[in-house]
Amino acid sequence: MTSPIAVTDPALAAGPTAAAGSRSSAELIRAEEPVLAHNYHPLPVVLARAEGVWVEDVEGRRYLDLLAGYSALNFGHRHPALVEAAHRQLDRLTLTSRAFHHDRLAGFAEGLAELTGLDMVLPMNTGAEAVESGIKLARKWAYEVKGVAPDRATIVVADGNFHGRTTTIVGFSTDDTARAGFGPFTPGFRIVPYNDLAALEAAVDETTAAVLIEPIQGEAGVLIPDDGYLAGVRELTRRAGCLFIADEIQSGLGRTGRTLAVDHEDVRPDLVLLGKALGGGIVPVSAVVGHREVLGVLRPGEHGSTFGGNPLAAAVGSAVVELLATGEFQRRAADLGEVLRSGLADLRGKGVTGFRARGLWAGVDIDPALGTGREISERLLREGVLVKDTHGATIRLAPPLTITREELQQALAALGTVLARHG
Ligand SMILES: Cc1ncc(COP(=O)(O)O)c(C=O)c1O
Repeated sequence: MTSPIAVTDPALAAGPTAAAGSRSSAELIRAEEPVLAHNYHPLPVVLARAEGVWVEDVEGRRYLDLLAGYSALNFGHRHPALVEAAHRQLDRLTLTSRAFHHDRLAGFAEGLAELTGLDMVLPMNTGAEAVESGIKLARKWAYEVKGVAPDRATIVVADGNFHGRTTTIVGFSTDDTARAGFGPFTPGFRIVPYNDLAALEAAVDETTAAVLIEPIQGEAGVLIPDDGYLAGVRELTRRAGCLFIADEIQSGLGRTGRTLAVDHEDVRPDLVLLGKALGGGIVPVSAVVGHREVLGVLRPGEHGSTFGGNPLAAAVGSAVVELLATGEFQRRAADLGEVLRSGLADLRGKGVTGFRARGLWAGVDIDPALGTGREISERLLREGVLVKDTHGATIRLAPPLTITREELQQALAALGTVLARHG
């Protein structure tokens, strides 16, 4: 195996991991096979420790993490302020259930509402739950406020979407792998082409409760719609009297250089769905944040989750909100996004056939003659860089927003090396 990139993080440069335990990476991968459902196909690396942008496998090899938990690790691994918030809360109160109030929830909701410029928060745990909650809210709003006939509400979504893995959500996916074999599906969804306002306009009618889209489609390969699309969706939904729900679970919380990806067009949706980075890479925390007129339709007993808004989640979520309120991470993503963009531009024609980037987030199309996205990811792993393929020969780069310019350049150099070697 080629040696991974030399370590520049002193915290990880200390020596082989103490977390190695007694089994090797190869043994642990083999041990998973008979006892774990095969719903993932991970790269052959077994991680044991991490700090910031760096992760370390059980043999003590270090890698730059350029996936960052699909943006769940926007602040890097074990950000000191987030770990401290979690530790403090672990020593006081971890779970109450929502049968009782607790002293961390009000502050979390106030902070998140202020950060996003919206009124109210519905805390949940995973991203898919936030999406499900948004769908339920939109339907209830359609019946109670808009006056749609019972059970007739529709929601318009985009093709190529990725909103999670529940049966309702995969029911309106256009990805056969996500859908096939899991029907029958929930009715009431209309699918239109992404980035096509005319198609959206044609699909919206008096039954439409909401338009649900990702402001940038992450899983589809970091597809960025044309300038004006998000503002157009806002205008169209306002005119049609339906809700605009932005799924910012991957695009939100600093990733694109703004707090939300919709901020690039100064658009305020009715509901914003957040997850991933909201839990600081420590606990699953998601939320629907929105206008009072919509979130206000829920009454006690109509929706909930045992762990939603628990004290540990609220403490970590509040610390995440505090980090974002400084604006530092959004600025880093915007500034370093330029480094990412120019590094990728240099690789165009040298194995990179195209790329789409906003902030510290890029979908990079590799010349298929050089290998599949999976093969490129495996070669980058051997160079000490962790990435994930999306479709075909596209790889996705989403480093922690704490990455330094030098580390980003190291990662881009590793990509250049991989492409040159196989070009
Ligand atoms: C845009 C978007 N929505 C929803 C989800 C689902 O989140 P979770 O995996 O936490 O359920 C994801 C996950 O990748 C996502 O990218």
